[in-house]
Amino acid sequence: MQTNTVSELLQKERFLQKVILKGWVRSFRSNRFIAINDGSTINNIQCVLDFENTDKETISRINTGACLEIHGELVESQGKGQTVEIVISEIKILGDSNPDEYPIQPKKHSLEFLRENAHLRIRTNTFGAVMRVRAALSFAVHKYFTENGFYNVHTPLITGSDAEGAGEMFNISTLDKNNIPKNEDGSIDHSSDFFGKETNLTVSGQLEGETYAMALGKIYTFGPTFRAENSNTSRHLAEFWMIEPEMAFYDLDKTMSLSEDFIKSVIAYALENCKDDLDFLNKRQEDEDKKLPVAKRNDMNLLDKLKFVSENNFKRVSYTEAIDILRNCKPNKKKKFEYIIDKWGADLQSEHERFLVEKHFKCPVILFDYPADIKAFYMRVNDDGKTVRAMDVLFPGIGEIAGGSQREERLDVLKDKMKALDIDEKELWWYLDTRKFGTAVHSGFGLGFERLVLFVTGMGNIRDVIPFPRTPNNADF
Ligand code: 4AD
Ligand code: MG
Repeated sequence: MQTNTVSELLQKERFLQKVILKGWVRSFRSNRFIAINDGSTINNIQCVLDFENTDKETISRINTGACLEIHGELVESQGKGQTVEIVISEIKILGDSNPDEYPIQPKKHSLEFLRENAHLRIRTNTFGAVMRVRAALSFAVHKYFTENGFYNVHTPLITGSDAEGAGEMFNISTLDKNNIPKNEDGSIDHSSDFFGKETNLTVSGQLEGETYAMALGKIYTFGPTFRAENSNTSRHLAEFWMIEPEMAFYDLDKTMSLSEDFIKSVIAYALENCKDDLDFLNKRQEDEDKKLPVAKRNDMNLLDKLKFVSENNFKRVSYTEAIDILRNCKPNKKKKFEYIIDKWGADLQSEHERFLVEKHFKCPVILFDYPADIKAFYMRVNDDGKTVRAMDVLFPGIGEIAGGSQREERLDVLKDKMKALDIDEKELWWYLDTRKFGTAVHSGFGLGFERLVLFVTGMGNIRDVIPFPRTPNNADF
């Protein structure tokens, strides 16, 4: 006989069927009711034990966290809260769980405690729901791009170039740390290192992605990226997953439209396909909200917010307009912002982005045409000479969820820019080749996958939406 999953069994309408189920004990009460979960759904199935006729040694081993194989009959449930249950005819203990040691008890644990038990936290309702939604979103990303004519490109994780120009990369080396070879000037000699040169973990697959867009047309990467920035916030990870589409013949307008359509589409996919998990997370957020002072509560519940975002247009606003709004807004005038906006050219902080989205426009916002000075070298310079064709997608509760640009396709302009920023042409010779041989207008963006999962699940901390978070001073598991 074939083993059934809880998800399959809960959808069954024919009763009195013989079934086999394997899963983990969530709770055992009154020496009679075992709640089993196998990860196939957030819901448990109730299994009813005949106490009198079950071996007492077996009963003593039915503890929270233990793994069981249950044979029995699927019947209409007598109790409230479930439609079916299993009347147990045979029970096998596949794996014991010592109740004095198992940390995940059938009670509410703090998220901090669960982070310390990241290998077991998936066995809670909250993390089971979050990780199933994460998996669904990941599938939706591949589905969206595949259905829209994009090719998935696996860009390298080890790189010999510093794409974004910031000193925030993790170095890779096989040199003997206790005996590092040095050049005459005291710098490290990488010639005997594994790659014969200095290498790092990538911060973005964009530059390699661009070369593929200039041959395959529309491509996307979806992989891990690494940043050694020391920002211990609820929005930053040292290892996170990024989705980076790159399109030949797309200008910035088309790219903004793509980003909006893409984000709405994957959120709609989750709403359609993760109903039980999102219902649970919605209720969870409502309960969390009740503990907050009224002013800090969400104005919409999670499900309404997801529907709102997937059904309404994002607002497009130029950086210059945004600066005007911010300069004149109450929190700026009353010096409530940590960083006061006083002039054009200022870099926007998360507090400003969230003000625009949450208080001013009350919807997702795409800011575009940023000052060249605060953006990367590869962004296309506008005719005004001081702004670039950049965009950031800003989300409620999150701030920046995606960032991108039209790329500078003019070889001479790009070279001048690199010279001005002291970026070595020789290191990026292959990147410049795309402008030398058949250059074309092209654009792309990067979306932080965990920030998307954060938004869709309504969780408050990015460490709770990735299986094993890597942050400063934390690389356990
Ligand atoms: O804005 P970023 O740095 O853009 C790039 O890397 C471009 N090369 C993307 C492109 O045009 N192809 O990063 C893109 C997104 C951000 O908007 C944010 O959502 C996310 O990646 N992100 C992070 N997410 C978690 N932890 C961090 N430390 C992140 N840094 C950026
Ligand atoms: Mg950015």
